[in-house]
Amino acid sequence: MGLEFALYRLPFAVVGVPLTANPFPMQIESHWLQQQIDTLALISEEPAPVVTRILFSEADLRARQHVKQLCRDLQLTVTEDVVGNIFARWPGADPELPAIATGSHIDAIPNAGRYDGVVGVLGALAAIRALRASDFNPLRSIELIVFTSEEPTRFGIGCLGSRLMSGALNPEQALTLTDIDGTSLRRWLEKIYGTEPDLSSAAKSKAYAGFIELHIEQGPLLDRAGIEIGVVESIAAPATLRVQITGEGGHAGAVLMPDRHDALLAGAEIALAVERAARESQSRDAVATTGVFRIQPGAVNSVPFRTDLEIDVRDTNLAARDAALEKIRAEITTICHRRGVSAATVVLNQDAPAACDAALTKTLENSAAKLGLSSLRMVSRAYHDALFMAQISPTAMIFIPCRNGVSHRPDEYASPEAITAGTRLLADVLRELAAEA
Ligand code: HGY
Ligand code: MN
Ligand code: MN
Repeated sequence: MGLEFALYRLPFAVVGVPLTANPFPMQIESHWLQQQIDTLALISEEPAPVVTRILFSEADLRARQHVKQLCRDLQLTVTEDVVGNIFARWPGADPELPAIATGSHIDAIPNAGRYDGVVGVLGALAAIRALRASDFNPLRSIELIVFTSEEPTRFGIGCLGSRLMSGALNPEQALTLTDIDGTSLRRWLEKIYGTEPDLSSAAKSKAYAGFIELHIEQGPLLDRAGIEIGVVESIAAPATLRVQITGEGGHAGAVLMPDRHDALLAGAEIALAVERAARESQSRDAVATTGVFRIQPGAVNSVPFRTDLEIDVRDTNLAARDAALEKIRAEITTICHRRGVSAATVVLNQDAPAACDAALTKTLENSAAKLGLSSLRMVSRAYHDALFMAQISPTAMIFIPCRNGVSHRPDEYASPEAITAGTRLLADVLRELAAEA
């Protein structure tokens, strides 16, 4: 048996006598799935093995077309909303019933890997193929969602598509979001879709009876413990600050040290204060990162007059996250005052953590046990579109292990067996949920 993961996984007793045959014989086409993952990985702004697909870049637009075609090849009904969320629906026998949704994202940060988000999108297609092949006919529609801009790279804020779907982001405010060149989301959407966008049409409350996202763990716990499935109970609370520091700049030879107001050094002190705020937090889950640090003019013989920082602060505990955030903002004020530079700080997002739906989580756990898959309940320290889907639908997440927990790097890796196991579980749960009125 090659990678075709024949799924008569018979839970054997100690003596090897099959106790119960798997009642839902389904076959996940592992080869097809791996092939699709490897093909999509080639649609990138960087050569393999690097994957980079920034929102609305040429690679992102090509990847969207590619995935929409895969959905059409599966006879799914494909639509796209005003901000680029893609919906691929397998109509159920009763189209009036709220659908069961699944999905994730295909955009990727610079210098990323090929599995983050993609496993949840292509795995869902493989799950639908397996359900179709097992002659399953859903009562409820099953809808794959490919969310726009789960990554924050273009506008500094993550989960742009699911925020708008859930109503967590004001549509008018969203249109004013700008990228590093100062181009607004409004301008981008006019350029891509040719219309003055009305983002209020993206809101979709009450549209789904449940949402399940399959994703790599992006952490080491499952891989280290040799456990096949993570059943996510909650998703950590992310916050992002954008800080613009303005100093005086000047000639590197002529401006003596006492006269300097160096925007880079203020930024450097702030980056160290960001690290300190997390390290000194009472919460072990506090993390803080200065992930973007740009200076101007960037000439060796010119004192930097401007620094642009983007700061990511998270915790599973909301109060601890906000305490760290407040400490960082106070440090920004103190450092900039002492150095005689000015700072403009914008809070791009300051989100609450999300709790996954208890009943749906139990369903995942029971299904994993039925399939003979080991599972572990856990927290997601990365955020996902599930963080916002949880505001409009019962939501659960399936994690699969990734090697050494590495992610957001080209050496991110999930084995075909792990991907197939997660996809098998997704197919089983979609079957169970879509069969019920
Ligand atoms: O940053 C995150 O947690 C996600 O991978 N975008
Ligand atoms: Mn990511
Ligand atoms: Mn992701």
